[in-house]
Amino acid sequence: MAPTRILITGGGRGIGRAIALRFATSGVKICVASRTSDELDKVVEEIEAAGGEAIAAQFNLRDHGSIEAAVYRAVDFFEGQMDLLINNAGVFDVKPFEECDPGMVQKFFDVNILGAMYTTQEALVALREADGAHVINISSTAGLQGYPGSSVYCATKYALRGFSDALREELCDEGIRVTTVYPDATDTTLFDGVDLDLDRSTMDSPETVAEVVWKAAQENECPKDIKVRP
Ligand SMILES: NC(=O)c1ccc[n+]([C@@H]2O[C@H](COP(=O)([O-])OP(=O)(O)OC[C@H]3O[C@@H](n4cnc5c(N)ncnc54)[C@H](OP(=O)(O)O)[C@@H]3O)[C@@H](O)[C@H]2O)c1
Repeated sequence: MAPTRILITGGGRGIGRAIALRFATSGVKICVASRTSDELDKVVEEIEAAGGEAIAAQFNLRDHGSIEAAVYRAVDFFEGQMDLLINNAGVFDVKPFEECDPGMVQKFFDVNILGAMYTTQEALVALREADGAHVINISSTAGLQGYPGSSVYCATKYALRGFSDALREELCDEGIRVTTVYPDATDTTLFDGVDLDLDRSTMDSPETVAEVVWKAAQENECPKDIKVRP
């Protein structure tokens, strides 16, 4: 059954925004969450223009109280039941490992893995209330193989894979599906200011990733791991 009550972290721009717009249709309620409220407000308007209902939940994945408040706001909007949680928000940079200071390492773990874990934990009661809920975690090809200059990013994305695999086994009997999606390089603001010589014209579009996520959400069986570029 197609999900109708959806929380998307990092929904203000990039892949998260594209996912929100892919799901936006009449009868769907979407909560988009991130730190930047003007981006969220624009996405809310775009979802409404496509016929859906939407709210913005401003939050910071580095602040547990803020995660609690955002999920509470989403669940209230969904009247207690969440069909789909998409843990998409993330941060990225490229640096030799010896230059990765503790502040950077902490931030990457806070946002890319701990934030996804705590958001899921807060959402579990509402996911259990829905009929056949789904958690989709946006990892990366960096969650499947190592890249130079990406030791910290890769560590968080491998961790997200481990979390997803274990949670899938834990929630399977309750009918809650857990899927991990592994996008390849995708043209978003993630690369702004990153010291890499990149040809953005060869990257996937956020809409390509959104299509893969949308298809995964229509499956009744749990498609465990999905690479955007097989
Ligand atoms: N682009 C790629 O090539 C690529 C490839 C593989 C995987 N991915 C993954 O795809 C996901 C989306 O990335 P993207 O490319 O769309 O990047 P993006 O355009 O930079 O978007 C990242 C999103 O995460 C949110 N975010 C960052 N820090 C946050 C925090 N502390 N609290 C709450 N929200 C936070 C951002 O919002 P605010 O800054 O407003 O908070 C933004 O909405 C990430 O998990 C990324 O690792 C991307």
